[in-house]
Amino acid sequence: MNNRPLGVFDSGIGGLTVVHALTKRMPHENITYFGDTARVPYGPKSPQVVREYAAQDVDFLIRQNVKMVVVACNTVSAVGLDIVQKHAKVPVVGVILPGATAAIATSKKRRIGIIGTRATINSRAYEHAIRQRDADVHVVAAECPLFVPLAEEGWIDHPATALVAKEYLFPLTLEKIDTLILGCTHYPVLRSAIDRTLNGQVALIDSGEAAAEEVERVLDERKMRNPSAERPHLQFFVSDIPAKFAEVGERFLGQKMGRVQKAEGFVL
Ligand code: DGL
Repeated sequence: MNNRPLGVFDSGIGGLTVVHALTKRMPHENITYFGDTARVPYGPKSPQVVREYAAQDVDFLIRQNVKMVVVACNTVSAVGLDIVQKHAKVPVVGVILPGATAAIATSKKRRIGIIGTRATINSRAYEHAIRQRDADVHVVAAECPLFVPLAEEGWIDHPATALVAKEYLFPLTLEKIDTLILGCTHYPVLRSAIDRTLNGQVALIDSGEAAAEEVERVLDERKMRNPSAERPHLQFFVSDIPAKFAEVGERFLGQKMGRVQKAEGFVL
């Protein structure tokens, strides 16, 4: 049973950064991924709509017989983790709590910035998670919606990205943050541009990496690690245009990806 895959889902392609983190940390786990490419982006949508979509996404993964659900999408983790837990019937790991915990452990000055989609920032989920652990941390948040299309276009070293990053991040630097949570699946792709804008002075927390650490902890605790040392089986399903996903996906995954399939039976 433990050779069943980890189920990972996201609003679209961005969650592949989390798959990258998972495979780096646990190279023998099989993974089944679902990206809701027909309805991406979730970031500008209302919590009600995101929750409805999240319930359908997790139902699809459960039908694929996954042993755990990893909510790669920060927006879903922020506004719909409870609904995912209700539908999952297997352990669920989101990205908010691990990201918040890693930021607290990193920040010496206890001044933390958070960037994410509009829905993630409006939910204040990261802020609440940080304050629950340490009420005295100074927290400042900014929504950065344009980072999503810039990352998908691959405009990593593009002057437009540098300009947008400066505009978004300047207010955070005024608050003298020493740690910044990359609270969106796409932002690790722009890590170098963000780091340059902050003159390398701010520690960047990849919430996907933090979540991968938590997944490993939960698997070990429940003795659910895949015992096989074979090369893992990675399966990718999307709700629309598999070819586009495969093309852009390699930049997010950091490696060649196999066949991407249209999710049969996924009703929009
Ligand atoms: N995956 C989303 C997140 O991490 C970003 C893209 C979207 O808005 O759907 O919040």
